[in-house]
Amino acid sequence: MTTHDISDRPGMSGEAAPWWKTSVVYQVYIRSFADSDGDGVGDINGLRAKLPYLASLGVDALWVNPWYPSPMEDGGYDVADYRGIEPAFGTLADAEELLREAHGLGFKVLLDIVPNHTSAAHPWFQAALRNEPGARERYVFRPGRGENAAEPPNNWQSNFGGPAWTRITEPDGTPGEWYLHLFAPGQPDLEWGNPEVRAEFEDILRFWFDRGVDGFRIDVAHGLSKAAGLPDASPPVPGAHHTTAHPAWDQDEVHEIYRGWRKVADSYDPPRIFVAEAWVANNERLSQYVRSDELHTAFQFDFLRAPWRAAVMHSVIDDAISSARQVNAPSTWVLSNHDVVRHVTRYARTQPDHLVESHGARLRWGEEPADLTLGLKRARAAILLTLALPDVAYLYQGEELGLPEVEDIPGHLRQDPTWRQSGYTDPGRDGCRVPLPWSGQAPPFGFSPDDAHAAPWLPQPTDWASRTVEAQEDDPDSTLSLYRDALRLRRAHLTSTDALEWIDSADGTLAFSRGDLECWVNTSNGAIDLPEGKILAMSTQSPTQQVLPPDTSAWLVRG
Ligand code: NOJ
Repeated sequence: MTTHDISDRPGMSGEAAPWWKTSVVYQVYIRSFADSDGDGVGDINGLRAKLPYLASLGVDALWVNPWYPSPMEDGGYDVADYRGIEPAFGTLADAEELLREAHGLGFKVLLDIVPNHTSAAHPWFQAALRNEPGARERYVFRPGRGENAAEPPNNWQSNFGGPAWTRITEPDGTPGEWYLHLFAPGQPDLEWGNPEVRAEFEDILRFWFDRGVDGFRIDVAHGLSKAAGLPDASPPVPGAHHTTAHPAWDQDEVHEIYRGWRKVADSYDPPRIFVAEAWVANNERLSQYVRSDELHTAFQFDFLRAPWRAAVMHSVIDDAISSARQVNAPSTWVLSNHDVVRHVTRYARTQPDHLVESHGARLRWGEEPADLTLGLKRARAAILLTLALPDVAYLYQGEELGLPEVEDIPGHLRQDPTWRQSGYTDPGRDGCRVPLPWSGQAPPFGFSPDDAHAAPWLPQPTDWASRTVEAQEDDPDSTLSLYRDALRLRRAHLTSTDALEWIDSADGTLAFSRGDLECWVNTSNGAIDLPEGKILAMSTQSPTQQVLPPDTSAWLVRG
């Protein structure tokens, strides 16, 4: 980015609103962030060492993906002990140090809670397999259907492919009941109608809140309650959980659970907060999760599903803001995370003219070769759009480096259960989880120490030398510099009370003002003229004053 004669105005950011209504949150996928001990897996001490980097980036808060003891059948979303730390990631003492240091630098820290399912290795599930009294009532066990009960209890499909039910062998060796797993077989769904489950999770929240954690991202927040009687889904579309009414998802009973969680969060000083991962049919349903006595925020996935097309983005933004406002909640923008194709690569292909639908665990964006130069150009433009929007934004680690999806990981190295459960047809999500490149000319690019005894858990592309933090740090035109500048300008120019007002602009473009800042976005094929004014930021690496080329965004103040 090139910046022009910036004069920051200090002290304007977020004065009127609590932090969680205005923050930029950085998602740390801990396995892939920084490895301190050379085992090829990122860890808490690696994250601690990089806190100054995050401070210099200019984000306000961190969300750390699950760090609990786990067999890692689904990247830690299979939790065996909700009050511990996975040994590969460190110890509880490391976690407490991280919280202390992060708070010392002014960061809030969010953890990830996984309430829909435990790991099959969790003591509760092990007790259920042994059929200890009351143990199966904590999960969703049912007899099978058909002859010899050999058919699953209903037709639900796992999000990763295949049936959502697995039959157990009873302790006496006979074929037994079936248990529900909306994800991998190693992730049995909990029975949230059971008060014991509710009490346990409220206690887990307190365990971490007592250690200073500022809040939680709630994994599959829309999945905890299932329709009474577990009826067949009709039609049985695999994973169609945000397009089709499905008895496994977004049931009204789930809201009572979050009213209880809100009371727990509000009992702390300062109050703790939640962000929901809820893939639901529309924003009307989504806004129910963020009513004032429920959760604080919920990811706006329509924005992530939107193609690089001004008209679609315009309507997504309008709909998201107006529905959030109706319940007095902030909008929560996100372009990438550990489950979706990185947006550099999404934008590198022909763009559909509608929101992209989810099939299984992953959004599909087509198979044609990716034009990564184009994708990066659009991604750079997209961050200026995102950071100009009102309220909260989440960044996914590595997007500030302009990382693309790694699409050529060899099959035998893939770790996402989606790969196996889809019968090796869906490559899964490993491509957005490749360990970060920090420095140097060759893998592990500073992800692991020089004397590491293991390679990074997923292979890094050998041509990532130009994408390392080191390579971008002092280059004013780098994507890292663009993110840093944009975050600094956002703090200086935008306040929580600045409402978005659209400005008339040509087809294929977006323009809006917030306070004295205007954001102009060009998704069309032709350049447009910008109005007179001082350009604060432009996403292209070779800007011409007052002209906005295709696939470029600019921030300006009218002068
Ligand atoms: C959503 C998480 O983001 C994803 O990574 C995980 O596989 C599923 N929930 C199941 O926990």
